[in-house]
Amino acid sequence: MPIVNVTAPEQAERYEIHIGHGLLSHAAPLLAMCAGRRAMIVTDENVAPLYADALRDQLELAGAQVSLFVLPAGETTKCMAQLERLYDAFLDAHLTRKDYVIALGGGVVGDLTGYAACTYLRGVHLIQVPTTLLAQVDSSVGGKVAVNHPRGKNLLGAFYQPERVLIDCDTLKTLDARQVGAGLGEVIKYGCIADAALFERIESLGSREALMPELDQIVARCCEIKAWYVQEDPHDHGVRMQLNYGHTLAHALENGMGYGVLLHGEAVCIGMVAAAKWGEALGVTPAGTDERIERVLLAYGLPTKEPEGLSRKQLAATMALDKKAEGSKVNVVLLTQIGACTGMPVDSEKLAQML
Ligand code: GLY
Repeated sequence: MPIVNVTAPEQAERYEIHIGHGLLSHAAPLLAMCAGRRAMIVTDENVAPLYADALRDQLELAGAQVSLFVLPAGETTKCMAQLERLYDAFLDAHLTRKDYVIALGGGVVGDLTGYAACTYLRGVHLIQVPTTLLAQVDSSVGGKVAVNHPRGKNLLGAFYQPERVLIDCDTLKTLDARQVGAGLGEVIKYGCIADAALFERIESLGSREALMPELDQIVARCCEIKAWYVQEDPHDHGVRMQLNYGHTLAHALENGMGYGVLLHGEAVCIGMVAAAKWGEALGVTPAGTDERIERVLLAYGLPTKEPEGLSRKQLAATMALDKKAEGSKVNVVLLTQIGACTGMPVDSEKLAQML
């Protein structure tokens, strides 16, 4: 079973990511730190019937006193009202700073539960058990936790590393095909920015069916890449921004179409092709890279073009307001080849022309 270590500069922020098939039914030894402690599983109404009992059994086997809190499913759950409900549940369960909160679910559950764990009593122990591919390769690793504000996604957040991450690849068997695709978009992104061999492997496998038997190895490689970025730049001031390849247009698309219409990973797919074209136009990315990425995305049934009817003017205006903009320039991640990238400030008018 692959184990990836996150060796962050701070000792307290070092942790293991365990990846395997059927992990949830054999997790007790990996949850031994919960022995004699209270452990609250936080999940949502979709995931609870599938996996909460198995996790509860393993926590009890490990010697924890377990409780369960079930949130509504969906992005709207990542809000202040649900955060308050969660704090109330922690208080009702008498959780202390020695106790554990376990986020069981996708990115919404992980981000919200992580933020609650970070702020309640100034921090209780957190374990992430991600059940979507996107959460397994991205949001459960690296400590970004947040809730949404009515004026924008993830505007209230913190960096709070989990004490352990448990990834059971079998949970993807119950995930719908569109959600798997959204996660695959992020997997392909890791190949584009940091690992040509990973990209080539995905390219040569050529379909979701062929890739599935290798998924645990591929998830492990993505976690290794993510762990490297987190170790280098835990608070996202520099090189970690490379993880945002494809995200400049993706965020504008998500905003322009209304959050939830395109899944984040789908928007990233479209954004990666666009960013390859921008890089080629700017002389940074080798010609034909956009077509190569597009071919791979299409082979995996993923979107590559922005939907018709979107206002280019509005997309350009939203990109100019990107979180990573400075003055009139937007910091865009561009590929120098498949498997390597660089950040580059690009004038927002130039970006608008390239759309
Ligand atoms: N999801 C990007 C990051 O963790 O930095």
